[in-house]
Amino acid sequence: MDAIVLDHPLVHHKLTLARDRKTPGSLFRQLIEELGLLLAVESTRDLPIISIVVETPLERTQGSSLIPLDPVLVPVLRAGLGLLPSFLQLLPTAKVGHLGLYRDHDSLVPVPYYRNFPPLLEERPVFVLDPMLATGGSASEAVRQLKVAGARKITLASVLAAPEGIAKLQEDHPDLRMVIAAVDRQLNERGYILPGLGDAGDRIFGTA
Ligand code: PRP
Ligand code: URA
Repeated sequence: MDAIVLDHPLVHHKLTLARDRKTPGSLFRQLIEELGLLLAVESTRDLPIISIVVETPLERTQGSSLIPLDPVLVPVLRAGLGLLPSFLQLLPTAKVGHLGLYRDHDSLVPVPYYRNFPPLLEERPVFVLDPMLATGGSASEAVRQLKVAGARKITLASVLAAPEGIAKLQEDHPDLRMVIAAVDRQLNERGYILPGLGDAGDRIFGTA
């Protein structure tokens, strides 16, 4: 499936601020949340709705309601936590699963260390949250684990992707929907996105 790439002046503006090495951690965290809000709007475009009747103060009319099957948000720890508040703001009744993965510094292979998914994954729309899609190893492993747990309708929301990561996910999971704020040029020899914004987890949590 083709990745959906947001092309919006607010994305370009906020992403440029986030890229700046001089941007302090508190502002970086806020920018990731704001970009997360823009991602959440596009990521939820296909949520199923039903038609309902509503009484305004003036008359009865036809309205819409999300089907009452709460979606599941799965931030990939740690950096995915930076996108969670924005998605919860728009989807306040969502269930939240957590998946802990870190990239081995040498092999760049994702190492799982924590997992807690809510029930009924097979029926609910699932949103994997991770601001960075570099080699694609972490996102691919997250989607694999969710599929094994029963998830069928999965969307990945990322702030910044490398073309290599998008290609890997299209190869590993052709049915995955991807919504990405921007796509950068390439990876460097250490698996970092260029020009990129550095290590998102370290910048969000001040661990650099
Ligand atoms: C970062 C990022 C992704 C992963 C992307 O996490 O948040 O999960 O790297 O790289 P990949 O596409 O090559 O797998 P990291 O492993 O640095 O862990 P952290 O969020 O705890 O810092
Ligand atoms: N993870 C990050 O946080 N940044 C990158 O550029 C690559 C992986």
